[in-house]
Amino acid sequence: MAMQLHPTGFFDNSARQYKYITALPLSAAMGAEIAGVSLASLTDEQFAEIEDALYRHKMLYFRDQEISFEDQEAFTRRFGEFGIDAYTSGVPGHENVQPVIKEADTKTKMIFGSGWHTDSPFMETPPAISMLYGVDIPPYGGDTIWCNSALAYRCLSDTMRNLLEGLRVHMSAAGVVSNLEAMKREGLSKGQKTTFARTERDEQTQAMVDGWFHPIVRTHPKTGEKSLYVDHTYSHGIQGMTSEEAESILGFLKAHVTQPAFSCRLRWSPGTFALWDNRLCIHQAFNDYDGFRREMYRTTVNGEVPV
Ligand code: SIN
Repeated sequence: MAMQLHPTGFFDNSARQYKYITALPLSAAMGAEIAGVSLASLTDEQFAEIEDALYRHKMLYFRDQEISFEDQEAFTRRFGEFGIDAYTSGVPGHENVQPVIKEADTKTKMIFGSGWHTDSPFMETPPAISMLYGVDIPPYGGDTIWCNSALAYRCLSDTMRNLLEGLRVHMSAAGVVSNLEAMKREGLSKGQKTTFARTERDEQTQAMVDGWFHPIVRTHPKTGEKSLYVDHTYSHGIQGMTSEEAESILGFLKAHVTQPAFSCRLRWSPGTFALWDNRLCIHQAFNDYDGFRREMYRTTVNGEVPV
């Protein structure tokens, strides 16, 4: 299903006039570069404006940052507790800083973050905010793309919004887990460094597959903004509906939320630091840089039970 929807009157990614930072919008739909800031020596005033800008633009990025694991941990903790990551393990001595690394000679069908997704929605309390620090970046490729799911919600008809109100989506890692199991069987990841630390069908993996039911329209706890909580990777059904009924609604919503008009795309460079609000956008990584190394470090902020 391909829609060409460019509704007018709903887009507003203009920058607020801040005192301590400068926000430079990336696309009409979302995203902004934040200039005039060193994340290693952030002031409280700058942080307050960054938090405001994050909820407004959904995804922020900073260029040319030189930060340590401690700096990334400190910046993450300004937003709240660390989130729990279902897939990865931390670097030695920094259990909450997860390496996301693909070596130049690694060839894999599935990379970490491939497929449109919001982070770990199969958990009762999915991570609210995710952050990535780019260290080694391919000369081209390896971009990340986001879609603004609050803008997508605003662009639905009143009738569709009413229909969705009160529905609960089944978020499950069933697809990801069975792909990982198949990759393992095929031996594709044999002997290669992989970002996915946990792939056995242990209790924890089974809990990821069982997943959780969350509101299909969620309300942001800080701003009250409503957004679609739907993605391609984890949204598997709707409570109380047959799979055929759910699939027709989810199929429409997945195509709707990922329209190019709602997106922005980031070209990384060494020292680029990005963060996004998983409650307000979905994202995906590209598996398009074979032959080049990509090394990133990821942290997440714990979220709340979606309402
Ligand atoms: C992610 O989905 O968190 C990873 C995104 C990326 O590596 O570009």
